[in-house]
Amino acid sequence: MRALADTYGTPLFIYSKKTLLHHLNQLQRAFAPLQPLICYSLKTNPNLSICRLMAENGAGFDVTSGGELFRALKAGGTGNKIVFAGVGKTDAELRFGLESNVLMFNVESEAELLALAEVARGMNRQPAVALRVNPALPPKTHVKTDTSVKGTKFGLDIESVLEFAKKVVNHRHVRIVGLHMHLGSPILDTKPYREGLEKAAVLVQKLRDQGHLIETMNMGGGFGIHYRKQEALPADAFAEVIVPAVQGMKCKLILEPGRFIVGNAGILLSRVIYMKESGGKNFIIQDAAMNDLIRPTLYESFHRIWPVEPKPGFPTPPDDYEADMAGTIKSDVVGPICESGDFLAKDRRLPPVTSGDLLATFSAGAYGMAMSSNYNSRPRAAEVLVDGPNHRLIRRRETFDDLIRTETEV
Ligand code: LLP
Repeated sequence: MRALADTYGTPLFIYSKKTLLHHLNQLQRAFAPLQPLICYSLKTNPNLSICRLMAENGAGFDVTSGGELFRALKAGGTGNKIVFAGVGKTDAELRFGLESNVLMFNVESEAELLALAEVARGMNRQPAVALRVNPALPPKTHVKTDTSVKGTKFGLDIESVLEFAKKVVNHRHVRIVGLHMHLGSPILDTKPYREGLEKAAVLVQKLRDQGHLIETMNMGGGFGIHYRKQEALPADAFAEVIVPAVQGMKCKLILEPGRFIVGNAGILLSRVIYMKESGGKNFIIQDAAMNDLIRPTLYESFHRIWPVEPKPGFPTPPDDYEADMAGTIKSDVVGPICESGDFLAKDRRLPPVTSGDLLATFSAGAYGMAMSSNYNSRPRAAEVLVDGPNHRLIRRRETFDDLIRTETEV
């Protein structure tokens, strides 16, 4: 770890190839009876090298914008394994999707379906569509990432979807071939999948009765990971609920996992700059900030943190990252950005650290680099992929020149 920090600098995202493939494999094995199409949700971590690894190992892609489609294709993805999601696709994006022969568009509104039909008419095409339905389930995760409660912007209302679908039976420029349901993220329980699928089964039958040839069920992503402790369910637990239900519908299965694959395959490595006491609190000021990992401040999410080389007497890693271990010091782990919201952890018990020490922030592979920014004109971190004893830079650290590259001056 120290060698990686010395070679590539900090802050640094480090991913394990072995763990990435292990997670993908767990899903492939758990859902094998249905031979699912696993569409890696590219938004989670769009690095080309990671996407290429996914494509080489059988995954397709869930893309949510023209930019993501561009990346998926660059990484070796092919249209026949790409599903195009997103609540606000523009005509240009719809056209790009059609030109790329994507397998399916996940459509979220009547207006979007009409726009797709119109673009498809101009190209004399009849794309396959999965209707994304909002099953109106009870809250199940953080309010900002819960997509299947009534009143979010996502999907078609479950009460009115049939009325809407009736209007497009035998449409010349769109073909409704499936249902899509992404429930939210992260989900640590199988119950929402059970409830969602019960509603989906009824809908699939009714859509078939209307004359739609429904052959695909897309259950989205959302499978939770270990953030705080070993709290996540294995892939098998979700498969036990999803496989029989989808078999019962006589549908093919598509999944769009992201976090489950890449979340616990990545850490964020940072270096302590200063220690400080202020207002009765201890602060560890280190060089990763909210522009590198915004999840703690945006979702109050918990990421385990531990020194890479803890002082003698401290375990590495500990059994419980929150334990009130003798000798630990309660501190806020903060970055250099000018906002009180710039923190990776609050009131966290950590072994004593000093300037120059390295810290590992765990479960940072998903929605870390993907949501990073240049706030405070901070160049974005580098990314490294570790493969056994080897490591490879998969994104170089940005320079100051990168910061102004796209700006124009009069
Ligand atoms: N499919 C759809 C339609 C989605 O909206 C998402 C995530 C996924 C699949 C992948 O979900 P996953 O398997 O990764 O849970 N930035 C937030 C999470 C936002 C999730 C957005 N949609 C976070 O850092 O927790």
